[in-house]
Amino acid sequence: MREMLRQGLKRFLGAEPARYARGRRNATIIAISSQKGGVGKTTTTVSLGAALARFHGRATLILDMDAQGHVHESLREHVVGQGGRLSSILLSSSSADVLDSIVSTTIANLHITPADRHLSETESLLATKIGKEFILRDALKYTRTHYDFILIDCPPNLGNLTLNALVAADAVLIPCDPSPLAISGVGEIIRTMATINERLNRDLDILGILLTRIDGRNRTVNEAVERELRRDYGDLVLDNTIGVNTGLAKSQFSGTSIYDYDPESRAALQYRKVAQEMMARMMGSVLSS
Ligand SMILES: Nc1ncnc2c1ncn2[C@@H]1O[C@H](COP(=O)(O)OP(=O)(O)OP(=O)(O)O)[C@@H](O)[C@H]1O
Ligand SMILES: [Mg+2]
Repeated sequence: MREMLRQGLKRFLGAEPARYARGRRNATIIAISSQKGGVGKTTTTVSLGAALARFHGRATLILDMDAQGHVHESLREHVVGQGGRLSSILLSSSSADVLDSIVSTTIANLHITPADRHLSETESLLATKIGKEFILRDALKYTRTHYDFILIDCPPNLGNLTLNALVAADAVLIPCDPSPLAISGVGEIIRTMATINERLNRDLDILGILLTRIDGRNRTVNEAVERELRRDYGDLVLDNTIGVNTGLAKSQFSGTSIYDYDPESRAALQYRKVAQEMMARMMGSVLSS
């Protein structure tokens, strides 16, 4: 009886038109998230995305969930063409896919979604949608078959957009700068992840905690923060860290990746090492399966 009703509803609605081509890949989706602002989420997303694409030859998409549009801004000199708005896809009444929003870049294997300031209204508009937490996951159905990695740059809060990112993701990378507020931000995102893991996405995992913006002049504070993180989170804290480097801000200002702006800079080398460590961690875990 139940099956008959289901079939009846399907006949009534009609078959879903095949609007999108299916690829042969199955992307690992990584959300870069912390509700603390300015800890290096966008810088990390862009630098890791560019490293995975360029040095590891992985088809990579950076998805910008933040209305500030800093991914596009940071890579604007590489961007080719224009894409649709991610906000329209998330609010669409038909089953639209993120594929409609993608633009390519002059960095081999790297695509991004364009800046979208309408994402700030989307945050509250999503609240009225049925199944609001699953909208991004569903909108990545075809997209994920075209990429090896999808990195999601999350906004600095735990609202509906971040919730959608965490439900769509396989794993979360948490950037943390050496400050007490950033440490409490790590605790908060991990508690949120635990709830999501229980209720909405049983496969969600932690990829790691990345210490960023370490200023060599504040050794005592850096060491205290690192000690506390390693005591509380053990080997979830990545071995590689990112120091303060003005080259990163300058490369963003020039709209090019750090590997084009200053490939020999400390920041370029450190982010390449983080990308390697991330790949190694994924190889050693179920995430790569
Ligand atoms: N390792 C670093 N060394 C020097 N400056 C950095 C470093 N990482 C990030 N910055 C600078 O710090 C600022 C904040 O970085 P970023 O935008 O990546 O943080 P965010 O967490 O994405 O911020 P938001 O929460 O606003 O989205 C930027 O101006 C960026 O250029
Ligand atoms: Mg950001």
